[in-house]
Amino acid sequence: MKKIQISPSILSADFSQLGNEIKRLEEAGADMIHVDVMDGHFVPNLTIGPPVIKALKKQSSMIFDVHLMISPVHKYIEAFSDAGADIITIHPEATDDLSSSIQKIKKLGKKVGVSLNPETKIQVILDHLDKIDLVLIMSVNPGFGGQKFMPEVLNKIKDLKKIQKSKGFDFDIEIDGGINFENSKEAIEAGANILVSGTTIFKSNNGDIKKNIELLKSK
Ligand code: DX5
Ligand code: ZN
Repeated sequence: MKKIQISPSILSADFSQLGNEIKRLEEAGADMIHVDVMDGHFVPNLTIGPPVIKALKKQSSMIFDVHLMISPVHKYIEAFSDAGADIITIHPEATDDLSSSIQKIKKLGKKVGVSLNPETKIQVILDHLDKIDLVLIMSVNPGFGGQKFMPEVLNKIKDLKKIQKSKGFDFDIEIDGGINFENSKEAIEAGANILVSGTTIFKSNNGDIKKNIELLKSK
């Protein structure tokens, strides 16, 4: 079984202190940093882009797990790669040609993630699974932090895990949205090995990030 990793979403961090917040996450034992990029078009919210990622990357040696909720995504892949993204995750609905977007990320030497919205079926990525490093299962509709977890996506993780085993693939399974101390266990049991969390990491236990990371990892 893969090691359980926590990828805190900086969407819930103090945006006026982002550099310090990332250092705080690193010291607290975060395995990577989840950066939610939103364009006000693919999702109804706007966040940050490559210049901010580039500035933060200089402050940290952590893995930058960049979740692109932008469309059309293809023409921006290079900019996020140049800015320092280590994992670049895209949504199939945000590109005209999923194959070529996957190829582009790979050519740039980055890890490829593909994300499935709650209503998006595994079938959409079935033919691409041999080229994907990470599947990001959305457990909320993307756009905002602090939403309620959708337990029905756990079955999708279980199905994906079965496919992975039967074909001998090795991609990571990451879950994103509404993760808390209760459902983290179910997500891990279903087969997720990377948990994204914003609200729980930054707001629970009076913002004790270290404790919250440990609690999310413990089964
Ligand atoms: C939602 C984002 C998530 C979200 C996680 O569109 O992709 O990464 O910010 O935050 P919480 O843990 O608050 O749901
Ligand atoms: Zn995300």
